[in-house]
Amino acid sequence: MTKITKQEVLDAALYRCAIRDYDPTKKISEENFNAILELARLSPSAMGTEPWKFLVVQNPQIREKLKPVSWGMKTQLDDVSHLVFLLAHKNMRWDSDFFRNKLQKLGLSGERLERKLDHYRNFQQNDIEILESERSLFDWASKQTYIALGNMMNGAAMLGIDSCAIEGMNYKAVTEILVAEGLFDPAEYGVSVAVTFGYRSDKELLPKSRKKMDDLVIWAK
Ligand SMILES: Cc1cc2nc3c(=O)[nH]c(=O)nc-3n(C[C@H](O)[C@H](O)[C@H](O)COP(=O)(O)O)c2cc1C
Repeated sequence: MTKITKQEVLDAALYRCAIRDYDPTKKISEENFNAILELARLSPSAMGTEPWKFLVVQNPQIREKLKPVSWGMKTQLDDVSHLVFLLAHKNMRWDSDFFRNKLQKLGLSGERLERKLDHYRNFQQNDIEILESERSLFDWASKQTYIALGNMMNGAAMLGIDSCAIEGMNYKAVTEILVAEGLFDPAEYGVSVAVTFGYRSDKELLPKSRKKMDDLVIWAK
């Protein structure tokens, strides 16, 4: 691996900021966008579940339909190069086909497979406590998608590509539109978060504002 410098990493983090005004004349190349997707695909996830799909909406008619129900990005939808919805897998219970199939693919069977599933049960039930509702299970999968989200946005910044994470939407209405287009099965997946990618316009940006390091970090030395 060719190492990039600490300063290059920090420069990309400083360059990245939520862009709401994109330059409509600049589009991301296929090669660069594929790299952003690759960053999503390579992201880590709890128990290696990869509980996600990445739905790229380039169709202008679908984007138009999304405008009235997505206040957080409606001004971006005409100009932005790429729009991605991060979908999270539903019903990620330890005893679902999802886990069984995953373990079988890894070559586990019989007692070894059952022991592993029981480990997952204990983790979901007693450690992270997410078995009480479908919503908490979905939120667990959804948390994993935010790791992919961060990797995509930071990686994009390193390529000089801008982005904006999007939660500003009516999730039910957005889901209905995407499902009506036949883009995913709502029994299996749900919308976790969206993100836009493109190149910033020349509109002036606010200076970056962050809490001080001392207010954020707790050391136990
Ligand atoms: C999960 C998430 C959801 C966000 N949703 C929206 C959104 O819907 N619309 C928007 O304009 N900005 C959205 N933002 C951008 C934040 O407002 C922005 O990242 C934050 O104010 C920090 O500013 P910076 O990213 O420019 O450093 C979102 C950011 C995150 C991380």
